[in-house]
Amino acid sequence: MRDLHEMASCLDPLQRPLRDLRISVSDRCNLRCAYCMPGEAFGRGFVFLQHAELLSFEEIIRVARQCIALGARKIRLTGGEPLLRHGIERLVEMLAGLCNNDNEKPVELAMTSNGLLLAKKARALKDAGLMRLNVSLDALNETIFQRMSGSNNASPQTVLEGIAAAESVGLTPIKVNAVIKRGVNESEILPLARHFRHSGIILRFIEYMDVGTTNGWRLDEVVTSREILARIDNEYPLMPIESHAPNEVAERWAFQDGAGEIGVISSVTQAFCHTCSRLRLSTDGKLYTCLFATEGTDLRALLRAPSGDDTALRQRIASTWQNRSDRYSQLRHEMTEALPEKIEMSYIGG
Ligand code: GTP
Ligand code: 5AD
Ligand code: SF4
Ligand code: SF4
Repeated sequence: MRDLHEMASCLDPLQRPLRDLRISVSDRCNLRCAYCMPGEAFGRGFVFLQHAELLSFEEIIRVARQCIALGARKIRLTGGEPLLRHGIERLVEMLAGLCNNDNEKPVELAMTSNGLLLAKKARALKDAGLMRLNVSLDALNETIFQRMSGSNNASPQTVLEGIAAAESVGLTPIKVNAVIKRGVNESEILPLARHFRHSGIILRFIEYMDVGTTNGWRLDEVVTSREILARIDNEYPLMPIESHAPNEVAERWAFQDGAGEIGVISSVTQAFCHTCSRLRLSTDGKLYTCLFATEGTDLRALLRAPSGDDTALRQRIASTWQNRSDRYSQLRHEMTEALPEKIEMSYIGG
């Protein structure tokens, strides 16, 4: 197992290095998942960011370059839905150039998408240099999928076709993320597990989290990872396997009969803040040091200032990281009431 501190260059006060940069490239989405962008809060009247408010690709590259210099080894494009950002393939190409620049320190370039536009875009993304992809899919049953995704005309079949396209162009290994909400898609746990057995695709179940303020999260709607694992293990016996890296969010489990592996992401019941190495860049250019942050550090003004050079940019990023003490999930029970204005997930990516 690689040591988290092996290449440390920028540490926070809890000795956690900056290793991952998650870039949200669009605050828009073509779904309205109730746990992320509920239709009631993100409906017709909702005002999304205007083009001039978004960081340009050149501005994103400037930030990414400095984060890599400070130790980032993985860049993940998120949203909202990243494939809605016009010209996303060009950004991927620009980032891939940055990631492949120095063979001594390879930087992984990945994306998290809802998969709806993937069938159309997989080839171009691969050609532009994207390495791998995580796709959200909460149900195979169309009615349950529509209920989870808040969309009456979306189909899980479209997502499956997107996954197949991504696989055929080699955007692998593909991971599928399923958020489980009690009383809505619990019944999909086994069908999903069954569907992705023997497929080479890594299915991961995510505990429903209290991100943002609009999803009306309640603890009793969380289906714990233990419960999810027990249900699967009952039909397909599982065994734990070692994580790839100390800062990995998913706990890995293999089917004992050799049908592949699954994962669970237990942000609610088993917080993983002690190894959190993730820095988030919002669509409008703010740095967030936690998924549950209430405030970010603005970089856009600095990026756009005539005198804003890259040394000042690097210093701002480094000092943001060095002043970070986030461990929200570990403190959740004390904090969830106290933080009424948490930033919405669609601004900073999952
Ligand atoms: P890989 O393991 O490299 O494939 O990426 P990943 O799992 O970090 O990326 P992905 O976007 O698929 O994240 C999966 C889910 O894990 C997210 O949607 C979140 O629900 C959760 N997650 C990721 N990072 C964090 C984090 O820092 N804190 C918490 N609480 N949850 C996180
Ligand atoms: N709880 C858990 N996961 C969430 N995601 C979005 N909102 C939540 C939430 N409240 C996940 C989605 C997707 C990624 C973008 O973030 O499932 O995989
Ligand atoms: Fe869109 Fe993903 Fe949020 Fe669902 S979870 S609304 S697909 S950004
Ligand atoms: Fe990191 Fe915050 Fe998630 Fe903890 S809750 S793992 S500090 S992003």
